[in-house]
Amino acid sequence: MDELTDLAVQRWGTAKDPRLAQIMTALVRHLHNFAREVALTEDEWLAAMRWLTRTGQISDDKREEFILASDVLGLSMLVVQLNHRFDPAATPATVLGPFHIEGSPPLEYGADMSDGVPGTPLCIVGTVRGLDGEPVAGAVLDVWQADTDGAYEAQLDVDEARLRAKYVSRPDGSYCVRTIAPKGYTIPMDGPVGDLIARTAISHFRPAHVHFLITADGFQPLITHLFQQGAPYLDNDVVFGTKPELIIPFDSREPGPNPDGGSSGRPWLEARYDFVLQPMS
Ligand code: BEZ
Ligand code: FE
Repeated sequence: MDELTDLAVQRWGTAKDPRLAQIMTALVRHLHNFAREVALTEDEWLAAMRWLTRTGQISDDKREEFILASDVLGLSMLVVQLNHRFDPAATPATVLGPFHIEGSPPLEYGADMSDGVPGTPLCIVGTVRGLDGEPVAGAVLDVWQADTDGAYEAQLDVDEARLRAKYVSRPDGSYCVRTIAPKGYTIPMDGPVGDLIARTAISHFRPAHVHFLITADGFQPLITHLFQQGAPYLDNDVVFGTKPELIIPFDSREPGPNPDGGSSGRPWLEARYDFVLQPMS
């Protein structure tokens, strides 16, 4: 039986690209050892093949079921950790997730990206800085989030950008995002990933968060989230995306002036966070 593994490793080791040869030979070795370890039956093998087929069939340009599978297995977060070993003082990276949409509309400092979507007003304010505390001007903050039903634009049939925008940090590094407070939500449970999770005790929820993708000249791109302190599911995020450094209070404020000079006629929430970017190496 070991001869079969050796032969398969040898064959895949002929890949012309050395990196591909390294990846494929390791994959073959681990797959064969996995099948040996669990003494995989033919029925189980077939069930796995059918699950993979369904995962492909349900995927399209808006639904990334394979990425979701990687997320709930902890693989996506592991790959983030392997590839973004930032200085401890830098803001940590987390998963991109399947709901980022390219080309969000630019908005001014303090402009409201919720644009009438119902929810509690939230201002997220702070600065973008480098490791030495120097302000980073002109950083682009690409921001996206779910609505209070936990739905992202990518999951809805809408024509206009919804709950997503790009802000630019000012000369002193400051930024201000005006939006609504997000709620925790379930990952899509109506596909093969959900079928598998439903057979476990795993919670299928993510804690309330806002996503950021921050780019600035001379710095490594930062993909991260800010999580609301005290929100449900912070200690059992289904995609392993939470980090203590990214959990911040959303403080209650009375109706009145907002940090951007505007004003809210309703009670609102204020969250403060300074992003620290890792320089290009
Ligand atoms: C998200 O935060 O948008 C997300 C990340 C991974 C899986 C599902 C959703
Ligand atoms: Fe999300």
